[in-house]
Amino acid sequence: MVSMETIVSLCKRRGFIFPSSEIYGGFGGFWDYGPLGVELKRNVREAWWQAVVRERDDVVGFDASIIMHPKVWVASGHVAGFIEPLVDCKVCKKRFRADQLESQVCPECGGELTEARWFNTMFKTYVGPVEEEAAVAYLRPETAQGIFANYKNVQTTTRRKLPFGIAQVGKSFRNEITPGNFTFRSREFEQMEIEYFVKPGTDAEWHERWVQDRYAWYKRYGIKPENLRLRAHSQDELAHYAKACYDVEYRFPFGWSELEGIANRTDFDLRQHQETSGEDLTYYDEETGDHYLPFVVEPSAGVDRSALAFIVDAYDEEPDKEGTRVVLRFHPDIAPIKVAVLPLSRKESLVAKAREVWAAIRPYFATSYDDAQSIGRRYRRQDEVGTPLCVTVDFESLEDQAVTIRERDSMQQVRVPIADLVPALAEKLGRRCLS
Ligand code: GAP
Repeated sequence: MVSMETIVSLCKRRGFIFPSSEIYGGFGGFWDYGPLGVELKRNVREAWWQAVVRERDDVVGFDASIIMHPKVWVASGHVAGFIEPLVDCKVCKKRFRADQLESQVCPECGGELTEARWFNTMFKTYVGPVEEEAAVAYLRPETAQGIFANYKNVQTTTRRKLPFGIAQVGKSFRNEITPGNFTFRSREFEQMEIEYFVKPGTDAEWHERWVQDRYAWYKRYGIKPENLRLRAHSQDELAHYAKACYDVEYRFPFGWSELEGIANRTDFDLRQHQETSGEDLTYYDEETGDHYLPFVVEPSAGVDRSALAFIVDAYDEEPDKEGTRVVLRFHPDIAPIKVAVLPLSRKESLVAKAREVWAAIRPYFATSYDDAQSIGRRYRRQDEVGTPLCVTVDFESLEDQAVTIRERDSMQQVRVPIADLVPALAEKLGRRCLS
């Protein structure tokens, strides 16, 4: 299996992911996405939105503000309960989460540790010009609460009946004590969450269906089944709001780790918000004439973690004439760049033709253009960032108005008239329609 060092270095070298504020030495737990990384993340979000909103008839989209009324976080239990036990090493001054330590001494230097102190991992800020206790607000540690607080707005304006879901993608913030494993545990990250509202009593069945659906999504977009597994939470690891939870786990180079949690949150959040706000959040069931609080099944995934898993899973090396061919075998929908246009040489007539071809396909696909160094080198560069198709413009193209499409995985080449290039590329990329 590929090492994390190889992945981190590829991500840096090719412009997927950089340490945040690198010119100042970086900033622990924060990362910046370069031109390829930002395309990759957009594709992850799009693939998720496609599966959970567009293709379904029972889920609608939503986008809440990041900073919400501070009472939201009192009601949700985060002010009192989003805490972790923190210990300091008296010798090297490093900080650790007490619950993650295997022994009572510092894992770095063997020094004595302080007593554990509870630490709330929500980031605090102030709203308005005065930095006083009354103005304290929080950066959201999960996107979910924006949905719960708006449940009634969405349900009444869309006139939805149970079961139905609300999906949201957005940034969340946690002041993690020990960020690490590259982007896996960051302090600023992006979540893709669905709150799926169901009639109490049907929650266990919907929970099971969502677990299977979400597991299948990772495979649909190319994650190898042998690197995926489902793990049920034991009673003592369940979050304060959950009746049951499954994690979709991925086999990262640092071990099996959570990509997504699918929890049965019962009516915990709606009940808490109803009690704290004084607003009636019950659902009127027209069939039975009853008012009740729906139960909630929550599939909660991470954009950054999924993106990292897609990179790790796609990584492949194979021997070739020049030593080793590094290939990211991304699913075409996930690949940051779909098509690269490569003129065989920098001769003016050829460059003009290649630029014309490039302009013709740009409206339809994420593309790049590369005319530096030998064609072999350029194919390798595209393989290394997972570009599924290269279009080569050669001297014959000037005569026969045709170009060569070269496939990343099979390395096979086919000649296609320029007039048919867009549909030919679309077909190879498995596009259902061009948009
Ligand atoms: N609303 C439920 C919730 O937030 P969670 O298990 O704490 O549950 C859900 O987080 C997902 O968010 C995780 O499975 C992971 O993909 C992502 N996530 C959580 N903390 C993260 C962090 N510090 N860095 C990157 N991703 C994180």
